[in-house]
Amino acid sequence: MTTGVTVSVPAKVNVQLAVGPLRPDGFHDLANVFFAVGLHDRVTAAPAETLRITCSGPGAELVPLDEGNLAARAAALLAARHGHPPAVHLHIDKDIPVAGGMAGGSADAAGALLACDALWGTGADREELLGLAAELGSDVPFSLLGGAALGRGRGERLTPLPVAGRFHWVFALADGGLSTPEVYRECDRLRGGEPAASRVPEPAPAPALLAALAGGDPAALAAAIAASGNDLQPAALSLRPALRRTLDAGLAAGALAGIVSGSGPTCAFLVKDTAAGHTLAQVLEASGTCRAARATTGPAPGAHIV
Ligand code: C5P
Repeated sequence: MTTGVTVSVPAKVNVQLAVGPLRPDGFHDLANVFFAVGLHDRVTAAPAETLRITCSGPGAELVPLDEGNLAARAAALLAARHGHPPAVHLHIDKDIPVAGGMAGGSADAAGALLACDALWGTGADREELLGLAAELGSDVPFSLLGGAALGRGRGERLTPLPVAGRFHWVFALADGGLSTPEVYRECDRLRGGEPAASRVPEPAPAPALLAALAGGDPAALAAAIAASGNDLQPAALSLRPALRRTLDAGLAAGALAGIVSGSGPTCAFLVKDTAAGHTLAQVLEASGTCRAARATTGPAPGAHIV
């Protein structure tokens, strides 16, 4: 008897997030350098009479349990495309911060696609899953892929990137989340409003940043992050000024680089090794500028059955 299929899915940080013009469809063209890290959600799909979602872990009370949940939409989309009844119990065990700028909701959708495909035996190949993922959200394809990748278009058109060795990170988790659409709107507002935001130049990946990833060089990656960084960071800081103190605390404590992760409010710090990561996590937690701090590494593999 099948009891369930569990999929582990990584969080991401954007080592570069170049935000281009506001498009007529309300999205922005991006040059988005995704990097998967070792914080994971686990999504379990088990047989059920109807589509049902439960959630556990930190921030679970903030996760919607109705059909608006992106994992539920993923299950329903796969079912509809294969003429399968959308009947499954999805349990999401959260470890990725909710609404934290680390693609937790996208991870759960990617996990649901893979878990339901295995549970139902729909036999969708990788290309079909990536296509369904792109329909669900800009970051969902990368949650399937993992590793590191350049995302073009609204972030869904992926090219895998070579990475040498491992990079060490500390994530400062904030109280409460930030809404991604609100952060993009604030970015447009800071750029002078709608007509001006539509005239922004096309975004491009920074060659020095791609070379630092391929060369496994943390000091070079830190310099590239400082130079090209995250175009959503000013917007996240505008909506949540206290994040400036978090970034300052991490940099003062010796982080090689500090950056708001995606649309925030999680802050990501690059450090040189495991020991530096553990020390920085302790210093950040003692600083009172974050709810908790987590040391981890990447690149991490994409969604996979465990
Ligand atoms: O694709 P996803 O559903 O994750 O996007 C959430 C919101 O983030 C969009 O509705 C849009 O407001 C904003 N967004 C954007 N440009 C992108 C990706 C997301 O403006 N490339």
